Amino acid sequence: MTASLLLGVISLGLLLQLAIGFAVAVSRRRQADPVDGLATRDPTLDVAAWPGWRPFRITARRFEDAAQTQCSFHLAPVDGAILPPFMPGQFLTFSLKIGEDAARNTVRCYSLSDRPSLASYRITIKYARAPDDKPDVPAGVASSHFHDRLAVGDIVMAKAPAGQFTLDSDPTVVSVLIAGGIGITPMISMLAEALSTHPDRPMHLFYGVRTLEECAFRPALEALAQAHPSFVLHLACSRRDTDSPPGHLAGRIGIVLLRRVLPLGRNRYYLCGPPAMVTELTRDLRASGVPEGDIRSEAFGPATPGQPLTLVGDAAKLSVQFKRSGRTLLWDGQDASLLDFAERHGVPIESGCRAGACGTCATRVLTGDLRYPMKPDQPPDAGFGLLCIATPTSNLVLDA
Ligand SMILES: Cc1cc2nc3c(=O)[nH]c(=O)nc-3n(C[C@H](O)[C@H](O)[C@H](O)COP(=O)(O)OP(=O)(O)OC[C@H]3O[C@@H](n4cnc5c(N)ncnc54)[C@H](O)[C@@H]3O)c2cc1C
Ligand code: FES
Repeated sequence: MTASLLLGVISLGLLLQLAIGFAVAVSRRRQADPVDGLATRDPTLDVAAWPGWRPFRITARRFEDAAQTQCSFHLAPVDGAILPPFMPGQFLTFSLKIGEDAARNTVRCYSLSDRPSLASYRITIKYARAPDDKPDVPAGVASSHFHDRLAVGDIVMAKAPAGQFTLDSDPTVVSVLIAGGIGITPMISMLAEALSTHPDRPMHLFYGVRTLEECAFRPALEALAQAHPSFVLHLACSRRDTDSPPGHLAGRIGIVLLRRVLPLGRNRYYLCGPPAMVTELTRDLRASGVPEGDIRSEAFGPATPGQPLTLVGDAAKLSVQFKRSGRTLLWDGQDASLLDFAERHGVPIESGCRAGACGTCATRVLTGDLRYPMKPDQPPDAGFGLLCIATPTSNLVLDA
């Protein structure tokens, strides 16, 4: 009798322990579940961004459009440690060894295209074909490398998430997201995260594509619109011979169309796409009275739109010496940055984001002073300058 009672008590205790263990495991898994994103992260699990380059393994790849021009790559850290959080809209910078010249790395930035997760990141890359008017030039170096050569299991080196193109935390202001082509990548991350934390947040997405086949993430976008009546999806196909889906828009996204479709009142605009589109829309929004603080933008290209051209009063008197290249040039104030200036004169400078966020263009300033029209995301080390957003305020000698 005593023995069986003892056995009963022990079994009950074991059962209780198992139940508690299971509950803790479920709660920990929920906190660490990648799909749950930041909203359910355990703050004690948050980790700092890593310095320099970190190896990531490609764990999956998948096309996101019917035309198969935009491919997602899922990346898990090789060290298996949990990932620091990021703000939707930020990007990763990659250093790629491509081709014969193993000593020279190609640096490119790609936006994070999913909600934050503890276990992996997702980026989505559009294959940069040769331009229509120059069919004989090679396809884009980095995008073709990802599409044509990188497979599941391959390793790429990436810097920690960076960038200031992020969604306002105030969920009451109407957010108007405008994406051109592959400019959809930061937007899908912003939408998925914002609507999961504030399901009734008022949001519009204007997504311009050439044809419907090039519309990326269409099922995911339509599912979000279906689940959240406060989110309105506007697809617009620009090629004349293609139709937008019923209920959507036709033609290019411009200020007239926005004025016609959007509700009156204050909106905050987020623009991402080719530089020409971003520059034109920024100008037209400003001209139509939208305050500068209500427009945020990021261009996926060589220019840095929105950044005013800085004409220095005594510009022609400033000399810029690129010591290692053996060139001394006159700064004439025509360029928005020292990086543009160097490139225009054929002086090679590595660059990535061209927006003061990735640190790739950091160059040692041997003599002289720089000015930053916009605050760098990550200030450079002492004695270095970020040439992509800097202009000279004195004669300069650069270690480049
Ligand atoms: C912050 C940021 C985020 C970004 N996010 C994304 C993203 O999420 N997804 C994405 O796909 N891209 C993104 N980009 C763009 C990306 O970084 C690359 O610029 C893009 O992939 C093209 O790089 P590439 O090396 O493939 O092309 P490049 O080698 O730089 O070539 C660019 C184009 O020039 C053409 N070309 C080559 N030679 C010549 C020539 N002699 N004359 C004329 N044209 C020529 C190529 O065919 C190609 O079309 C982002 C950029 C930034 C700055
Ligand atoms: S190119 Fe990224 S900081 Fe200058």
